[in-house]
Amino acid sequence: MDRNEHLIEKRESLKVGGGEARVKRQHDQGKLTARERVTLLLDEGSFQEIGAFVEHESVSFGLDKMKFPGDGVVTGFGTVHGRLIYIFSQDFTVLGGSLSRTHAEKICRIMDLAMQNGAPLIGLNDSGGARIQEGVVSLAGYAEIFYRNTRASGVIPQLSVIMGPCAGGAVYSPALTDFVFMVEETSYMFVTGPNVVKTVTHEEVTSEDLGGAKAHAEKSGVNHFTAANDVEVIKQVRDVLTYMPQNAEELAPKTSHFEYSPAKNKAIKSVLPDNINSPYDIRKVVDSLIDDDSFREVHKDFAKNIVVGFARIEGRTIGVVANQPAALAGVLDIDSSRKGARFVRFCDAFNIPLLVIEDVPGFLPGTDQEWRGIIAHGAKLLYAFSEATVPRITVITRKAYGGAFDVMNSKSIGADLNFAWPTAEIAVMGAKGAAEIIFKREIAAADSPEDKWKEKEAEYADLFANPYRAAERGIIDEVILPEETRAKLILGFKMLENKVETLPKKKHGNIPL
Ligand code: HXC
Repeated sequence: MDRNEHLIEKRESLKVGGGEARVKRQHDQGKLTARERVTLLLDEGSFQEIGAFVEHESVSFGLDKMKFPGDGVVTGFGTVHGRLIYIFSQDFTVLGGSLSRTHAEKICRIMDLAMQNGAPLIGLNDSGGARIQEGVVSLAGYAEIFYRNTRASGVIPQLSVIMGPCAGGAVYSPALTDFVFMVEETSYMFVTGPNVVKTVTHEEVTSEDLGGAKAHAEKSGVNHFTAANDVEVIKQVRDVLTYMPQNAEELAPKTSHFEYSPAKNKAIKSVLPDNINSPYDIRKVVDSLIDDDSFREVHKDFAKNIVVGFARIEGRTIGVVANQPAALAGVLDIDSSRKGARFVRFCDAFNIPLLVIEDVPGFLPGTDQEWRGIIAHGAKLLYAFSEATVPRITVITRKAYGGAFDVMNSKSIGADLNFAWPTAEIAVMGAKGAAEIIFKREIAAADSPEDKWKEKEAEYADLFANPYRAAERGIIDEVILPEETRAKLILGFKMLENKVETLPKKKHGNIPL
């Protein structure tokens, strides 16, 4: 065989990973192989592999007889919608995709290139964790990845896709990245699996219940995006990438084509219910302000009382943070503060302007929230907005009460433009509660305390349950009609396009973690 043929044959052998039986098992589980995933994610023909023939050098426990070219991870670069990205894809068919020293070195090389060349890093995770036969060197390999994830944070977007098991310390690389995508039924993440859980806490729990896509989407908030299968999750990643810049020095790409249905601008007039305390879906407001079909909700099933996600206005990416009156009346609590803060920080790190839609009755009271630290967690959202230097616009649709008003991107914490609809109520608290406190004695002494309370409530509401006191003081910039909002946002974001604001010189801030 001549040398060229030898190479072609060697290349062919890469396709079967850890062997045909294991590939079949992967397919039988509804999973694609590492290479199939890479092919699907990248633009056709754009993949350049790095280290395809790399093998480990370990000898313990028979490893010397278990060598596979590539050592369980496919690494390289390619393009998504014509833009450069770096990728690693773990191959479960090779020793369970377990991470050896060599496997880690391959990932680190890709991470270094991504950083040096300012392009996103996508990790497709499908691994049984540290290669057990190798011992501590594989742990060091993990640590080198964690270190690079941290150094790359805020420099290039990092997306982690969980497409199989992800256990033990392996979960910390995804946790350090910007967004985690999970596949229903076939992926899970946990620090300790069901067996250890049973031994230590005597709880009986399945892998799916403990760390499946649903558990992390709804309960822990570790999972930002869920998909039904490998093909869907890869489509999602390709789509979400279009909203992001290549790195922190650049702007997200502007789409050349966008649509906006005029009917949406009519519909916005009737989104708010007549009763101030009735719920409505804030996503309807968001949708009526942005380009058609451009909203990509992040963390959809976690802390539903706040809605966050990417959208576009006239083709430009924005980040949306909106209180959701349809869940817990849109109140701010621990989880919604954490969710909002993390999203705001991503947008700020990557030059994505922020649009805040506000309808918030305040912070959630109670021992549970106080003892679990709503003070510190709420402060995260306050900190994230205060620190953000990207263009920031707020629209108050209805309630803007108390500390929550300050937190939700108020002008006093650096928002550039604040608008309020005529239905806005910008006050220290709701009229009913306010009347009860400040007219307590008068109400108690009245012949009919109930009537007195109502009278005083109306008096307070008259004075404060509107946007005009705030407008008089310049706390908001303009009271606008709902149907004027999109036009105001277009003008506002255009005006702020070249905004330059720098933070005081510091090593880094100390966000209340
Ligand atoms: C070496 C491994 C492996 C590992 C799986 N394999 N995990 N080899 N190191 N960590 C191998 C198996 O021996 C098997 O080889 C093949 O991969 C497929 O594994 P199965 O068990 O047959 O697959 P499945 O039934 O789907 O179960 C998958 C699994 C299970 C749940 C992931 O394999 C498992 O529990 N693995 C160990 C998980 C673990 O404890 N990892 C260490 C975590 S500690 P053959 O040859 O039979 O096909 C850790 C520390 C990191 O990661 C800390 C960083 C700070």
